[in-house]
Amino acid sequence: MKIYSIIPAAGSGERMQALQSKTLIPIKGIPAIYMAVKKLCDFSDKVFVVIREEEQKSFSETLKGLPVEFVKGGATRRESVQNALNKIEDLNSIVLIHDGARPLISKTLIKNIIATAKEFGTAVPAVKITDTIKRSLDGNYIGATVDRSELYTVQTPQAFRADWLKEAYFSFSDSTTDDAALIEKLGKKIKMVQGERENIKLTYKEDIALAEKISGFSFPTVGFGYDVHKLTEGRKLILGGVEIPFDVATHAVIDALLGASALGDIGSLFPDSSKEFKDINSLSLLIKVNNILAEHGLMPYNIDVTIAAQMPKLFPFIPAMRKNIADALNIKEEFVSVKATTTERLGFEGRGEGIAAYAVASVCR
Ligand code: CTP
Ligand code: MG
Repeated sequence: MKIYSIIPAAGSGERMQALQSKTLIPIKGIPAIYMAVKKLCDFSDKVFVVIREEEQKSFSETLKGLPVEFVKGGATRRESVQNALNKIEDLNSIVLIHDGARPLISKTLIKNIIATAKEFGTAVPAVKITDTIKRSLDGNYIGATVDRSELYTVQTPQAFRADWLKEAYFSFSDSTTDDAALIEKLGKKIKMVQGERENIKLTYKEDIALAEKISGFSFPTVGFGYDVHKLTEGRKLILGGVEIPFDVATHAVIDALLGASALGDIGSLFPDSSKEFKDINSLSLLIKVNNILAEHGLMPYNIDVTIAAQMPKLFPFIPAMRKNIADALNIKEEFVSVKATTTERLGFEGRGEGIAAYAVASVCR
C-alpha cells in the first residue's frame, strides 16, 4: 500500500507576521519546512509540498536534494490540501497530511500514524488538554468551567485512506483547518493516536523561540583538529585567514569540524594533489566545509583554537582571525575563540622551526 504525504505550506502566516512563509523560518539553523519534509520523505512513496507560486525559488533552494513535488497553494488550507489531493489517483493508498509549520514531528509518531491508518483507515494524533478550560461569552468574564475530561487538541500528521479522504473533500465544501473534521462528517470513525506535546505548530512569533528551546536539548558532538606548518625563511605567514599561504589555524578548525561530524579529514576531502585545492584560500575551504556539514543537517556551534608559536606575537591579529572564522562559518564571533601561546622556546615551535594549531569544534544536528 503506497503512502503519499501532503505538506501544506502555502499560508500567509498572518499571526506570525513573517515576511516570507513562516515554514521557511530556521529552527536552530535548519528551516522548519526542511525538518518536516525530510522526516516524511523517509516514510513516503511521494511527498507533495504545497506552496505559494511566488515562493517557489526559496522553497526549491531550501528543499534542494529532497524528492518532492511542488503544488500550487490555494486561498485556504483546505484548497491547498485539495490541490495536492487532486494529484493522487491511487485510491488504495494512505494519504498523510502534515502542516509544514510543525517541524518537531518525531519519526515514532509518523510510524504510529501510518500503522494505525493502515489498520483503521484513519489516524489522528491527539493530546489530552491539561489546562482547566473556561467558557466566556463576552471575553471579559468567565461564564462557566468546562469539563475537560473528554477534551483533546489534535495535531498533524493526520492519515486517511485515500478513497475516504477524496470522498470527504468531494462531498463537503467546508473550509476547515482540520482534515479529520471532513472525514467525521462522512460518518467514518477516527482513530486517535497519542500525539506529542513537542509537536507544536509555529503560529505566533514566540513559537519560534519555544521550538528552539524544545529542539535544543540534543548535545553537540565535539571534534579535535591539529595542524603544523614548517616555517621557512621568506615565506608569508597567515593565521585564521590573516596572511600566510599555509594556514594552520583554519586547517585545524576544518579537521575539528569534520571530526565532530565524522566526515573524514581535510586531506581526504581536499587532496592537495588536486589542482583545484592546491593553492586555495583556507577560508574558502572553510566555507566549503560548512556547506558539506549543512548538507548533512549539521552546523558548527563553537570553535576554540590554540596556536603554538614562538614568533611572531599573534595577539594583535586575534580579533581579525576570530571574525574571519566566524564569517566563514556563519556563526557569531562570541562562539569563536582563538588563543595563542609560545612554548617557552621548547620543541619545534619554540625553536621557531614551525607553528602548530590545535582546534576543538562542536557541531549540532
Ligand atoms: N496553509 C496552506 N494554504 C493556506 C493556508 C494555510 O498551505 N491557504 C498551511 C500553512 O502554510 C501551514 C498549515 O497550513 O503550514 C497550517 O496553517 P496555519 O498555521 O493557520 O498557517 P497560516 O494560515 O499560514 O497562518 P495564519 O492562519 O496565521 O495566517
Ligand atoms: Mg491559517
